[in-house]
Amino acid sequence: MTIRSVVVGLGHYLPERVVPNSEFEAELDTSDEWIKSRSGIERRHFAAEGETTSDLATKAAQNALANAGLSANDLDAIVLATSTADLTFPSAATMVQAALGMTRGFAYDVQAVCAGFVYALANANALIVSGQAKRIMVIGAETFSRIMDWSDRSTCVLFGDGAGAVIIEAQEGVGDKTDRGILSVDLNSDGQHRDILYVDGGVSTQTTGFLRMQGKEVFRHAVEKLAQTATTAMEKVGISGDEVDWIVPHQANIRIIQGTAKKLGLSMDHVVVTVQDHGNTSAASIPLALSVGAERGQIKRGDVIVTEAIGGGLAWGAVVLRW
Ligand code: UT7
Repeated sequence: MTIRSVVVGLGHYLPERVVPNSEFEAELDTSDEWIKSRSGIERRHFAAEGETTSDLATKAAQNALANAGLSANDLDAIVLATSTADLTFPSAATMVQAALGMTRGFAYDVQAVCAGFVYALANANALIVSGQAKRIMVIGAETFSRIMDWSDRSTCVLFGDGAGAVIIEAQEGVGDKTDRGILSVDLNSDGQHRDILYVDGGVSTQTTGFLRMQGKEVFRHAVEKLAQTATTAMEKVGISGDEVDWIVPHQANIRIIQGTAKKLGLSMDHVVVTVQDHGNTSAASIPLALSVGAERGQIKRGDVIVTEAIGGGLAWGAVVLRW
């Protein structure tokens, strides 16, 4: 008998305010045409004044609980991926725990920037397969609008706010690739690339800082490393490209998504794409895409899904699961 982490519920939340590309044209030397053609982004959501990452995460988590037909105290843990927590501490995860009315178990944050959800899912899976928890809420939630330099057109048009959540539960499998649940994980980081994507502030510098990115450099690493990590994760469980129903990639740039799919030998018919509506929501982008993909009827029970993400660190990774 093999313990597998099976998705039993999911949900998402997007702030009310939708910002189309055209809104940037008034303040910046940019255009809807440039943003769309270089990134695939058409609009994004921005949190309202006073609306925090844990607020978005709580709403996504409530939607996931409703979707699963569970209540907060049915969870053993919350693992929340974010780089934009409300406060230095406590963790956004414990704030969500309180807001949900969850009075048992444990909650903590994971920080791996845009790869955060993949890391959090891998981490939660490890808790489940090692017997430390039976049911975990895994959340990706961000308010990247709070770390934008609004005078930097090369970054501020790319990011958005949002949250997505999945509930995974321990279920018995037979131990091969026909099992439902998480089948394999591949995680990587290389701290030598710090300077191509970072925030130039933080607690020990006494500032919040702004996101800084050498877009072309990140792009160059992204396609190669995403294809490599997805391939490694698929090889670990013996899944070939033609067995993959859906790639659910980190949604940073449609050209990265297309380039990675091409390297994996998969057509775009097998890729869940939400970047046009959400922009880059960092750790929230994969659970948002999973939830929207399920709502659209793209992702169905039994499907083989490959998620892959890369972000600041650099940190990157992939998870293969059967829905
Ligand atoms: O989630 C974390 C990972 N992040 C990513 O995956 C992002 C990776 N990078 C990218 O998505 C792309 O590199 C960008 C979308 C950021 C940029 O696309 P690009 O094709 O690499 O463009 P570029 O940076 O080479 O810029 C081309 C030109 C430059 O002008 P010059 O130097 O050729 O005259 C930029 O100054 O476009 C200019 N530019 C803009 N023009 C209009 C940069 N930003 C803008 C803008 N509007 N917003």
